Amino acid sequence: MTNIDRREWLKTLGLTGGLALLKPSELLALDEPVNTTFSNSPIMLNANENAYGPSERVKKVISDNLNIGCRYPFRSLSSLVDLIAEKEEIHRDSIVITGGSTEGLKATGLVYGLYKGEIIAADPTFQAMLSYAETFDAKVHRVPLNPKMEHDLDAMAAKVNKNTKLIFICNPNNPTGTLLDRNHLIDFCKAFDKSALIFSDEAYYDFITEADYPSMTKLVKEGRNVIVSKTFSKVYGLAGLRIGYLIAKPEIAKNLKAAVMANTNTLAIEAAKEALKDDAFYKYSITQNIKAKELIYKTLEDLGMEYIPSHTNFVFFKTGIPITSFSEQMSAKNIIVGRPFPPLLNWARISTGRLEDVKSFTTALKTVMG
Ligand SMILES: Cc1ncc(COP(=O)(O)O)c(C=O)c1O
Repeated sequence: MTNIDRREWLKTLGLTGGLALLKPSELLALDEPVNTTFSNSPIMLNANENAYGPSERVKKVISDNLNIGCRYPFRSLSSLVDLIAEKEEIHRDSIVITGGSTEGLKATGLVYGLYKGEIIAADPTFQAMLSYAETFDAKVHRVPLNPKMEHDLDAMAAKVNKNTKLIFICNPNNPTGTLLDRNHLIDFCKAFDKSALIFSDEAYYDFITEADYPSMTKLVKEGRNVIVSKTFSKVYGLAGLRIGYLIAKPEIAKNLKAAVMANTNTLAIEAAKEALKDDAFYKYSITQNIKAKELIYKTLEDLGMEYIPSHTNFVFFKTGIPITSFSEQMSAKNIIVGRPFPPLLNWARISTGRLEDVKSFTTALKTVMG
């Protein structure tokens, strides 16, 4: 699905919760068989995976390609780069395939954090790049989120200095699920991309339902000093296969390629290629995610619990009790929730999972918090 198709399709969902607006062919797609055979005990709602995946089409491609496990990934990698370049409408030299987007985050943290490079990031946010860079002596400035639990771009701007190498923006943010105002973000990137590289982690971009919300790939295309990361782990349901990618202008992409170590693997590459073509599964996953979030919101509202409306496949909500105690109580009910996110230690993050998993979560939550 191209970005334009996706936008049109999202409009049919209409932000009205409007499954009724789906075309009959799309409703058919909602019935397609999905992954139901894996062991699901305990119910893992802690890592923002898509438990419907891999899709049936992707599973078939993986098993059909077991033989190429004897080959190095170079050849198949090249055709995946072409497919991604087409999807992102950018030159192939701007694409760096990585072992999950984590590898891209770490490679970037290494390249720019070395020699005491300074990185500015929100707090709390996704840590993979930051903690990795710190092991190589980078200095990370963690800037608290604003009271709406969003990145405080103005406070982050105030931290920029001559040693700043990288500004990490996780949008939508993990663990809060918040989305930055698009104009504020674009203005910020344009104001600071000469002082430092801006990294836009867009792992959850596909779940954004705000119409025409731009990927910062738009700025890469304008020649800006921006790096975007995307992943096949979330909406495409391939977290265990480890494949993602970075998008940056060619001279930056070349540096990052040199720092990538794993180069993913042949089966992940074939899986990713098929996943990009499997529109029915993509739509199914997004539609189920909307339904799951509605169910979670309704339960939290019934219980009078505070939560943050989410642009992702997880919801961050206030437990009002220490997360360690909440996790233990939920675990006793077979539900694994997200890890603690200091300093927000009386909040919890719950991934959407499959609808039946979410129903088990809501039942457990009512017992623990009711
Ligand atoms: C914001 C964010 N970025 C990146 C990742 C890494 O995902 P992966 O390495 O599977 O692509 C995650 C995983 O949860 C995430 O939440």
